[in-house]
Amino acid sequence: MKTLILLLILGLIVAGCTNTTTTQSNVQENVSATAGQKTITFAEVSKHNSEQDCWVIIKGNVLNLTGFASKHAGGAAYVPYCGKDATEAFVNKPHSEKAESYFTYFMIGKLQN
Ligand code: HEM
Repeated sequence: MKTLILLLILGLIVAGCTNTTTTQSNVQENVSATAGQKTITFAEVSKHNSEQDCWVIIKGNVLNLTGFASKHAGGAAYVPYCGKDATEAFVNKPHSEKAESYFTYFMIGKLQN
């Protein structure tokens, strides 16, 4: 009888642990799903104003361009705009629709109005 009760308790503990794991992974999924929709203030963006820590605003989107220079066809041309609104600079350079489609890889949120 004692063994049976022990097994029952053990079963309940294992079931509890499995449930906790599921809940944690659900929370993580929700966080990453909404990460691109986070609202970020201009004051926050302006703190990330160097090549090593570079956030820019383009068309109301906040992009993290840290480490982007080596992959960007325009090299470090965006660096002077780190921490700033780079919409005008981006639009005035020869950028295709393809360039804009890459935004999703760098999006960390939307600028707060
Ligand atoms: C202030 C921001 C930026 C500036 C000043 C800038 C500048 C430039 C320049 C000068 C070129 C032309 C290089 C050449 O052909 O000689 C270029 C090309 C390119 N840039 Fe940027 N860039 C900026 C942001 C971005 C961002 C955020 C992306 C994508 C996430 C991007 C993607 C591209 C791509 C893909 C090209 C190759 C041409 C094309 O397919 O459109 N750039 N950029």
